[in-house]
Amino acid sequence: MTGKLRNIALIGFMGVGKSSVGRMAAAALGYDFVDTDELIEQRAGAKVPEIFQHQGEPAFREMERAILRELAGWSRKVVATGGGLAAQPGNLDELKRHALVVCLWAAPETVWERVRHQTHRPLLNVPDPVARIRELLAEREPFYKQADLLLTTDQRSSKQLAQLVVAEYRRLQGGHASS
Ligand code: S3P
Repeated sequence: MTGKLRNIALIGFMGVGKSSVGRMAAAALGYDFVDTDELIEQRAGAKVPEIFQHQGEPAFREMERAILRELAGWSRKVVATGGGLAAQPGNLDELKRHALVVCLWAAPETVWERVRHQTHRPLLNVPDPVARIRELLAEREPFYKQADLLLTTDQRSSKQLAQLVVAEYRRLQGGHASS
């Protein structure tokens, strides 16, 4: 199997459902599920907001890059990435080398509806989170839109999204059956 079609990576903004879709897709394929935020928290022995507060965002981004360096040796994994991972220089190319990269997309208003009652995202703990969502989404859009597959999440359940991801992955694998 070619390098890309050994893993699936889900990218996209906070609150679009990468972890729930990723878990379902992994279960359907019999793959392991990896959530980069969870892995970082396990390794650091601290929650993401604490890492941002005590060590700073650059340290967190370096922890993300450390996970990406391991991706080359992985197979049969579905990886849900933190919302900023794919928008850091070089990271998207690295992801695309070793995984089918699927972006889950949502409008800023939808993102806000989904994250407004949550407090674990340090980048949105600001006086005007909606403006921040628009700003960050605009900055990241050029990266997100370079995914191999772009799926809008509005009007689709996590289950439907997971089924679409798995179907596309299997279809592409079918085309590379002998590689
Ligand atoms: C971030 C998204 C978060 C987490 C951190 C930074 C971002 O992950 O990695 O708070 O920069 O968008 P989720 O997308 O899982 O919320």
